[in-house]
Amino acid sequence: MSFQSVWLPAAFAIVVTAAVHAEEKATVSTQDLRAKTDYCKTCHGVAGQGFRGSFPMPRLAGQQPEYLENQLQAFVERRRTNPVMFNVAHVLSPAMLKALAEEFRDLNPKPLGGAPKDHLAEGKTIYLEGAGANIPPCASCHGPDAKGTDAFPRLAGQLHDYIIRKLTNWDKERGQDKANPDTSAIMQPIAHDLSEAQIKAVAAYLSYLE
Ligand code: HEC
Ligand code: HEC
Repeated sequence: MSFQSVWLPAAFAIVVTAAVHAEEKATVSTQDLRAKTDYCKTCHGVAGQGFRGSFPMPRLAGQQPEYLENQLQAFVERRRTNPVMFNVAHVLSPAMLKALAEEFRDLNPKPLGGAPKDHLAEGKTIYLEGAGANIPPCASCHGPDAKGTDAFPRLAGQLHDYIIRKLTNWDKERGQDKANPDTSAIMQPIAHDLSEAQIKAVAAYLSYLE
């Protein structure tokens, strides 16, 4: 993978070795969990707050454990396409997956910010009230404060540029195993019907929520 050679190849090799090791055990040691969490943070930010590199690395802090586990599983099964996260996730044992999801749930850094502020009010209206016949209030599933529940992800404090990319590319990245529809199908028609301007407004609004 060309990506690996760009992304800290030495660190990657060490972590892959550690992960293979962890998989042999039924539970996860504090030491292995720490090593793995540190590795995730090289991309997702030291407090899981997200990071802007050549493209946005999503915030994981405060994320719903069920959603986080679902996505790691989706990367492994290639229902969700992303070459970086396939490599990261397919070496994780079920016990490690669960432990990581709990680790990130408990982090609560300030949002990274950086979104334009000129359409925040419009974004808030879309989020709380929806828009037209086809766009239901986002809050009805993601919660009034955008913290999510269970399989419904937290969106509060998420990088606006990450949200824009996900909503724009939904059909190409999520639910890629057409024979086995997953939770991404719930979001598909909504992502499809949002206009570019609506996506930008709601993404900016969400990115500042604590
Ligand atoms: C080399 C960089 C890199 C490393 C290391 C990395 N990630 Fe990621 N991760 C990414 C990128 C890039 C994305 C965004 C993928 C996309 O755009 O769909 C992502 C996405 C995710 C998502 C989906 C988030 C969402 O909101 O849907 C989860 C969950 C995740 N990573 C967990 C982890 C965990 C846990 C680790 C450590 C075991 C980890 N990542 C390590 C780069 C990385
Ligand atoms: C009917 C319930 C429902 C509604 C309404 C809804 N969503 Fe979602 N949304 C979901 C589910 C479920 C997921 C997780 C999909 C998956 O598992 O891949 C999701 C995922 C997302 C994601 C991807 C998060 C990530 O970290 O990758 C974004 C962004 C998002 N929704 C934004 C919105 C916005 C903006 C609105 C309002 C315009 C909205 N959603 C309305 C159910 C809903």
